[in-house]
Amino acid sequence: MSKTLIIYFSKTGNTKKIAEAIYKTVEGEKVIKPVNELQKNEVDKYSIIFIGFPVYSHSVPFSLEGILKNISPNKKIALFSTHGTLTGSRLSREALEYASVLASKANVLGSFSCRGKVSPKALEVLEKLPEHKAWAEMAASASTHPDESDLEDARSFARWIMTLAAQD
Ligand SMILES: Cc1cc2nc3c(=O)[nH]c(=O)nc-3n(C[C@H](O)[C@H](O)[C@H](O)COP(=O)(O)O)c2cc1C
Repeated sequence: MSKTLIIYFSKTGNTKKIAEAIYKTVEGEKVIKPVNELQKNEVDKYSIIFIGFPVYSHSVPFSLEGILKNISPNKKIALFSTHGTLTGSRLSREALEYASVLASKANVLGSFSCRGKVSPKALEVLEKLPEHKAWAEMAASASTHPDESDLEDARSFARWIMTLAAQD
């Protein structure tokens, strides 16, 4: 019987909400953990691994890069992210594409992303920084996300990934 691990990095709780929705949807033996609680070689015990993160500066947070690079080839993985920018925008896709490249040794079954609010205080600061201005202005309208519809999409994503994982 396959075992599923859901790991996430979440500074302000948005990605954690998505991780929990995925966790509740997955059936069978499963564990959910923030990345900082992962034990050495713990991922080796699982055959399906969901990995979630917030987009930081169009990219994957540094703390996730090593984990993605070290996933071994026999693992089935699914990636998810939250971001301030509009879902589907180039800015929101870049980080997931990069995460797929980092994890390309493994079998990447799919990815999911949705918007996640940025605190008004953080936005005010970020909008003034040239490297963050472009996404931060767009992110102002993410203030209600992730919402119930995002969580429902995350649950559908989880079901889809589990169907794919069962196929081979
Ligand atoms: C320092 C910093 C950089 C960020 N960079 C981006 C970015 O480049 N693109 C984007 O869409 N959102 C960006 N965000 C917004 C976060 O990705 C978004 O709010 C996310 O949902 C936070 O997830 P969390 O609550 O799980 O920490 C940034 C947020 C912070 C604090």
